[in-house]
Amino acid sequence: MVSYQQRSPLKILIANAKGGSGKTTVATNLAAYYASLGESVVLYDKDPQSSSHQWLKQRPEDISTIKGINACTPHTLNQTRSWQLRLPEDCDKMIIDSPAAISEPELRPLIRQADLILVPVLPSSIDIHAAATFIKTIMLTPEHLQQPGRICVIANRVRRNTLSHEKLKLFLNALSIPYLSTLRDTQNYVAAAELGLGVHEIRRRHTQADLTDWSPIISWIDSLQIQKVQAS
Ligand SMILES: Nc1ncnc2c1ncn2[C@@H]1O[C@H](COP(=O)(O)OP(=O)(O)O)[C@@H](O)[C@H]1O
Ligand SMILES: [Mg+2]
Repeated sequence: MVSYQQRSPLKILIANAKGGSGKTTVATNLAAYYASLGESVVLYDKDPQSSSHQWLKQRPEDISTIKGINACTPHTLNQTRSWQLRLPEDCDKMIIDSPAAISEPELRPLIRQADLILVPVLPSSIDIHAAATFIKTIMLTPEHLQQPGRICVIANRVRRNTLSHEKLKLFLNALSIPYLSTLRDTQNYVAAAELGLGVHEIRRRHTQADLTDWSPIISWIDSLQIQKVQAS
């Protein structure tokens, strides 16, 4: 865990216009990881499908708590919208899970808020092409141009040393987009999701390779958190 005196929540946006690329998987696994370290984590579900919210409902009561905010639930008479969306004062990480087919006007306020943006991409030609268009859209928004250098790609469901994996690496190099890590294609993510857990919270004998996959992602996030604290 990064230690710092003043609370300054790091806001992590997980986005890709393509459904099924792994946004909810990345969001829930990150939330579970930081909560397991004792951090105060908010999982902010911007997707009307509410998959992150559903995951949170499966989470066992005796495990580290994550506060869920379902941004798509209509507020009740007793709850104003701003109250419903309010972050706890002690929040360390806000992890934003976003919907597929998100439009540029919907994306721009999220980019403005976010300290960093993670784009999970599947290594198929169709997904790589769609991701290129999406990343270009993000990079050309005024919000990103004002604060560049905070976007990274995670290749998801990768079978290493395959042709599609090689193509993905070439594409990312050509765009000069930092390529953080690859998450392998494994039922560990499916099994963990069914229990409301992350891969860091299930039995280690089966997940060592997955924990290694997460390590550069976590290092990058922690380094940006330190930079944010130093700048504040
Ligand atoms: N690395 C992975 N290995 C195996 N299954 C995965 C992996 N990443 C995601 N999945 C599965 O793929 C499906 C889509 O992932 P999800 O995270 O819901 O995508 P999105 O939120 O972008 O629509 C889910 O069933 C999820 O469990
Ligand atoms: Mg999702």
